[in-house]
Amino acid sequence: MKIALYMAISIDGLVAKSDGDSDWVSPIDSDNFDRKIQEFGCIIVGRKTFDQYQGELYPVTEVTNIVLTSNANAAPDSQNVYYVQTPQAAIKQAEMESHRQALLIGGGTVNGSFLKEHLIDEVYISLHPLILGKGIKLFENFEKQVELELLEQQTLGKDVLQLHYRVIK
Ligand SMILES: NC(=O)c1ccc[n+]([C@@H]2O[C@H](COP(=O)([O-])OP(=O)(O)OC[C@H]3O[C@@H](n4cnc5c(N)ncnc54)[C@H](OP(=O)(O)O)[C@@H]3O)[C@@H](O)[C@H]2O)c1
Repeated sequence: MKIALYMAISIDGLVAKSDGDSDWVSPIDSDNFDRKIQEFGCIIVGRKTFDQYQGELYPVTEVTNIVLTSNANAAPDSQNVYYVQTPQAAIKQAEMESHRQALLIGGGTVNGSFLKEHLIDEVYISLHPLILGKGIKLFENFEKQVELELLEQQTLGKDVLQLHYRVIK
């Protein structure tokens, strides 16, 4: 199972302001993100991110939606949404749905949980030209050093740089 992380970040490594606002994410990156979700067919998302955009972006139709939460009983009555309690359970659920890859889509807490367990294989970072100053880090509760290899880079529109890395394990 390949797990690839896709996140939009500010140049100071934040994914959202403290109040959760991510209005600064460029439309061209959002389009690219949507395409990547369709390509992978399966997303893994933190409960806070899922709740914040529920009814607007999530659940994504015709895609397996796996939500990480400590309260798996709260699962909505929806065919393509699964609530799980650990990163390992998320991967198992994706495999049960016959997926060979899944896109991890944040937020920072879930990203940190997966990185801690060495479960992230690739990273897509869309670097946005702004400094947020204060907010949610790309990897919350994670303090170790991890080496990456740059696989490719592209510019999205005028000023968003997308970097695609492999995590060296
Ligand atoms: N810039 C971007 O590309 C981007 C992408 C996604 C999200 N975001 C932003 O990120 C913000 C949310 O990030 P966040 O870090 O606060 O929250 P989050 O990662 O979305 O969700 C955190 C929740 O996930 C569950 N969880 C995380 N790790 C777990 C583990 N190991 N085991 C069981 N449950 C686990 C817990 O749910 P329970 O509390 O239910 O137990 C936890 O409270 C939002 O404001 C969103 O806008 C930005």
